[in-house]
Order: sequence, then structure tokens, then C-alpha cells
Amino acid sequence: MARQMICRRFSRALGILSILVFLIAASSPESSRVYRILGPGSGPPPGAKDSYTLEELEAFGVQTVESSYFDRAMNYQDTRLRVVSLARLAETLYPGGEVDALALNCFDDYQGIVSLEDVKRYDLRLATGIEVLPRFKKPGWLNPLLIVVPDGSGAPYQERFMTANIRELRFVRLEDYYAPLREIGQGNPALREGMEAFKDNCLFCHSVKGIGGNKGVRLLTAYDFSRAPDRERFKADFASFHGKDNPDKQNVQQFVTGTMLEKIIRFLAAPSLSS
Ligand code: HEC
Repeated sequence: MARQMICRRFSRALGILSILVFLIAASSPESSRVYRILGPGSGPPPGAKDSYTLEELEAFGVQTVESSYFDRAMNYQDTRLRVVSLARLAETLYPGGEVDALALNCFDDYQGIVSLEDVKRYDLRLATGIEVLPRFKKPGWLNPLLIVVPDGSGAPYQERFMTANIRELRFVRLEDYYAPLREIGQGNPALREGMEAFKDNCLFCHSVKGIGGNKGVRLLTAYDFSRAPDRERFKADFASFHGKDNPDKQNVQQFVTGTMLEKIIRFLAAPSLSS
């Protein structure tokens, strides 16, 4: 009887111990994660490995930097980021320039994209580590890998340079990536501007025509943009969900003026978008 009790206590202790070990392992997911680099086809680019750990990515040459662009967007101060050069990564893997953009597939259904032209022009970096001062709240999605705009590069202030939680970098051609949107806005500059604003700030979470991420709802299902009351509801929902008080730090409003939002609505109302 006594022996059975001890056994039971022992196995309960073992159970608790294994839960603790699991929790400790799960609390630093980055260290055990692997990341993929893919080409436009189904496999990795010639010369790339099937998968990379953070250390293997850092072998491309790592630096510690701060980014006032990042701190401003997150409302943080003095964040330290371990980064590698995206331009160097692209040149190493595609010296011939057969591709012109990087699609960024994330752990949370976010899908970012940066052109290699922007990578070069703004010297964009890829962060493999991030250290936020303890006094700031760090949302669950803020994990490596992430895109970082270095100080002094003059990059425009847009959601597209804030992609985080990246699990896969896929080299693509912009023309192929955006092909389903090619016809929309031809000969209509206002519609085109709305489309560009949507591509730079919204598409990553609200997909249209099968492009982009699905972290947010499908806007074309949630609203009938041909109806004025729906357009008003859309604006009110946007202000209440994507403002600076967003509990998950998804303050998209900071990137979009009222005029831009009107143009985005004009784009979302385009009949060819929902057909
Ligand atoms: C980081 C991802 C992300 C980005 C970028 C993003 N959204 Fe969202 N959005 C969400 C999530 C998540 C929700 C709320 C959850 C939901 O309803 O799916 C949401 C909700 C909304 C809503 C309210 C919908 C509802 O039914 O509650 C609107 C309107 C909206 N977004 C518009 C936009 C517009 C316009 C842009 C670009 C200017 C944008 N979003 C950019 C993730 C995003």
C-alpha cells in the first residue's frame, strides 16, 4: 500500500516535471525553428540548403543594429536587432538576377512581399534576433525572422516593411506574384493608386483574388463595397480595429491617411475584383 502511494507520487512528480520541461522548451520557439528559402519553382534556389537554423542564416554575416523606423511603428525605444543583409543573401543565391522579389510566408498566415529593388534601395535587413526592452509589451507575432529598415535609408512609412514571424522566404517574379491583379485599374489612375495602397498596407492579411495572407477576414465577403452603408461601416471598423489602441499592436492606421483609405475603398469596389 505504502509502496503504491510512493509510486503514484513519483509518477505524478514525473508528470509535472515533463510538463515543465515541455513549457521551457516551448517558451523559446525560435531556437528550435527552421526556416526555408525557396525559389520560384518548388525547391530551394541552386546552392541553397533545404532548411536553415538561425545560426546558419547568421553565417551570411550578422550585425546588431537599432532601427528608429521599427521603434516608431511599434511605439518602442532602443530595440536591438540582430540582422543579416538581404541584398547579400539575394546576390549569393541569385547572382544572375532571374528573380525580382521575395514573398515572405509567416507562421501566422501573414504573407509579406518586398521587391529586390527595395531591398537594394533601402538596404533592407532580415532580423534573426530581437531584444525588446522589458517595459514594452511584445505581441505574440513579433518573432524572427523579420524585415528591418536600417536608419537613414529613407524608406516610405508602410506596413510592408514591418513583416515579422517569417518562416519561409520565397524568391519570385513580381509579375507572376501580382498576375491576378494585372487587369485591374488599367487606364484608371485613381483605382491604381488605391490598389497600390492596398498592396503596400493590407494585402498581407486580407487576401484578394487568392494573393496575400489570411490573418484577417476576407474584406470582400464582410462588406459589399457597392453600398454606401457598407463603405461607412468599413471605415468605422477600420478606425476601431486598426487604431493605435489595437490590443495586438496591429496599428495599421498609422500608415494610411484618410484620402488613402478612400482610394482603397474605390479599389475594393472595383467590379472586376469580385468577379
Ligand atoms: C497584420 C495583419 C493585418 C493588416 C496588415 C491589416 N489587417 Fe485589417 N484586420 C486584421 C485582423 C487580424 C482583423 C480582425 C480580425 C478579423 O476580423 O479577422 C482585421 C480587421 C479589419 C477590419 C474589420 C473587419 C471586421 O469584420 O472586424 C477592417 C475593416 C480591416 N481590417 C481593414 C484593413 C485595411 C483597409 C488594411 C490596410 C490599410 C488592413 N486591414 C490591414 C489584420 C490585418
